[in-house]
Amino acid sequence: MAKPTAQFTCAECGASHPRWSGRCDACGAWNSLSEEKPLAAASGVMGAKRGAKITLTDLATSEAPPPRTRSGMDELDRVLGGGLVAASAILVGGDPGIGKSTLLLQAAARFAQAGLPVVYVSGEEASAQVRMRAQRLGLGSAPVRLAAETNLRDILATLDAERPGLVVIDSIQTMWVDTVDSAPGSVSQVRAAAHELTTFAKRRGTSVVLVGHVTKDGQIAGPRVVEHMVDTVLYFEGERGHQFRILRAVKNRFGPADEIGVFEMTGAGLAEVLNPSALFLSERGQPTAGSVVFAGIEGTRPVLVEIQALVAPTPQSQPRRSVVGWDGGRLAMILAVLEARCGIPFAGLDVYLNVAGGLKISEPAADLAVAAALLSAREDAAVPPDTVIFGEISLSGALRPVGQMENRLKEAQKLGFTRAIVPGTGAAGGKGVAVAGMTLTEHGDLTSFVGETFGAG
Ligand code: TYD
Ligand code: MG
Repeated sequence: MAKPTAQFTCAECGASHPRWSGRCDACGAWNSLSEEKPLAAASGVMGAKRGAKITLTDLATSEAPPPRTRSGMDELDRVLGGGLVAASAILVGGDPGIGKSTLLLQAAARFAQAGLPVVYVSGEEASAQVRMRAQRLGLGSAPVRLAAETNLRDILATLDAERPGLVVIDSIQTMWVDTVDSAPGSVSQVRAAAHELTTFAKRRGTSVVLVGHVTKDGQIAGPRVVEHMVDTVLYFEGERGHQFRILRAVKNRFGPADEIGVFEMTGAGLAEVLNPSALFLSERGQPTAGSVVFAGIEGTRPVLVEIQALVAPTPQSQPRRSVVGWDGGRLAMILAVLEARCGIPFAGLDVYLNVAGGLKISEPAADLAVAAALLSAREDAAVPPDTVIFGEISLSGALRPVGQMENRLKEAQKLGFTRAIVPGTGAAGGKGVAVAGMTLTEHGDLTSFVGETFGAG
């Protein structure tokens, strides 16, 4: 019989190690290991005690779609896949102070007003504090039941009696399971508490929202281990100095992943932003070199966003490559393609790239807009302000068509843009997407784009 030896668990990836070390061998995270008691009785379940026979069903059995409740906050409902699914478990992660408690208190109030019995359990603030916040948000009279408690046994006993439709646990790191012998916030505690709560959700048909703090240094057990246990993982992102907040679905068993909801942090809580493109572009002033508007798709929705680049000479032999809101590796690739295929070197130049408004873009469709911003900054030539750009760049320098062209163009047209620079549909496609009021300039490769747009090459 194998003896359970693993005693240290990584908060980032969940890997087990026999001894402590400063760095996790599995994922490379620093200072993320913490001690964990091994599970007793690792002798296998087919041992002495026989299991009971379970009933198997057919795949063909027809099932009604899960009942959903809408909060009336459209940005939240859409990210959830069209409302809150009964008996689902949802993790809302984000940096401390980003606004998770505010968002969930507002959501709790809206769901309660929509007729769902809601319990809000705070392990971080006293009930009076939560009540005060609710009053400041103008939600003082919402029928939400409150508790300030961290003992999970008591919480579950209460929920068992109350039978709410939704329970918010703020936060999972503060919950304490008395059968697990380690401090609240440790990986074993977080994992045990999340397991108890998700099981409760399935058993009682209550939806459970778990709030989880994500810390960079791994001091608190990250909710990464919890991600596998829940149906839906939402991340609440944004910069603290900035008023925009983005709720992003990174996993959703009941809807599309990658869907985003946009909010604005105001003095009276989070306000929904129903037209994010207008907001992301609102800070744009006069046409300046290095600024390009990218017509992107976030989830099911087109979003226009400004991409800004700054290129400056540097005496350093290793010039800086600094990126916010876009992938650093992808930037390196585009710089390499510009150099190798178009003969435009960026050696001896610092490059800064920024996606305005705090949005993080992961679409390769932004390649061409990034290249345009870089060239515009390098050549000190502004791109016409009525133009949007999108297209994927391949290593050969060819431009690849991207999905949902029509949606992107329609959104651009709606916001007053009249021209778009797009990948050529060429011989392969030739479908010719046309949107009234938009003039398209098509390019089959980067060289042709550079030559025509910047007259360089
Ligand atoms: P909070 O929801 O407590 O963050 P989290 O639960 O993610 O740690 O929100 C923290 C910040 O939000 C706080 O610094 C103040 C700001 N805030 C506002 O700007 N307006 C408001 O109406 C509220 C309630 C908070
Ligand atoms: Mg909080």
